Amino acid sequence: MIRKAVIPAAGYGTRFLPAAKAQPKEMLPVVDTPTIQFVVEEAVDAGITDILIIIGKGKRAIEEHFDRNFELEAELEAKGKKAELESIRRISQMADVHFVWQKELRGLGDAVRCARHHVNGEPFLLMLGDTLIQSRWSVARRLIELYDRYNEPVVALERVDPAKVSRYGVIDGVPIADDLYLIRRLVEKPSVDEAPSNLTIASRYALGPRIFEYIDRTPPGKNREIQLTDAMQLMLDDMAMYGSVIDGCRHDIGNKLDFLRTNVIFGLEHPEIGPEFRQFIRELAASEFGDRSSEMGAGRRCVGASVRR
Ligand code: UTP
Repeated sequence: MIRKAVIPAAGYGTRFLPAAKAQPKEMLPVVDTPTIQFVVEEAVDAGITDILIIIGKGKRAIEEHFDRNFELEAELEAKGKKAELESIRRISQMADVHFVWQKELRGLGDAVRCARHHVNGEPFLLMLGDTLIQSRWSVARRLIELYDRYNEPVVALERVDPAKVSRYGVIDGVPIADDLYLIRRLVEKPSVDEAPSNLTIASRYALGPRIFEYIDRTPPGKNREIQLTDAMQLMLDDMAMYGSVIDGCRHDIGNKLDFLRTNVIFGLEHPEIGPEFRQFIRELAASEFGDRSSEMGAGRRCVGASVRR
């Protein structure tokens, strides 16, 4: 049974500069909640009790966010702000959250390698700290179940518009059951022509401790970074690997357009501001900008889907 999660959050976030210069992109809020809090909540909801966050320079705000803030708690208590007090206390009580530094930012594979000692020979869930999954079922829970069943690595998959495959790790696989693939090959950020499919790795993985051996053997790849996808391709020589297609979508907050789209989707569903925001969007769409509404079309299938927190 997987009980540990590893959340890499050390990256530069160059796609979100200048906002990410002095603050972690993983702390960018979706309405009022930092992205990485959603990721931790998703892990806890799936039964994870031990979380390791990989951080680096400029990422201390993440540590502070998951620590207690006694002064703020006292202030909220004195002012009788019970809901706010409860919401910030809950953050530090959710799970056992640990931190480790990635000293040199050499890519996602290298970030994962920093978890080796903490993972200590156990299987673990790997969840990218800048990405939310909105789905009709808990993707984290599903990956844990599949890992338990097969005892082999499992990744979440998202079907994307073929024109967008070059942003992601892409798989070549054989369907073996509803929404379940046996993976034959993985390619990191292929061009549209090279991509073996439009099934992309959707930022959630269930991995065994042997991944570290393969990361050690992986030379720098795309962007001269140690790519996790390359290490997983090496693993495929020795073991089976499965891919589970999500029923929903991934929101990559490190991408500006996705960030805005996600805030709109979650804003529409937000219990406090949702109705007013909905009205605002309706008026905006009916206004002179209405003919640009196709920008929002891609997010429409998520609106109304349950929000995994
Ligand atoms: P990204 O692929 O989004 O990379 O990382 P990035 O470097 O942070 O962002 P850009 O491309 O420059 O805009 C996915 C997740 O992996 C973490 C990031 O913090 C993010 O949560 N990561 C990436 C690391 O922890 N270390 C790395 O060396 C690279």
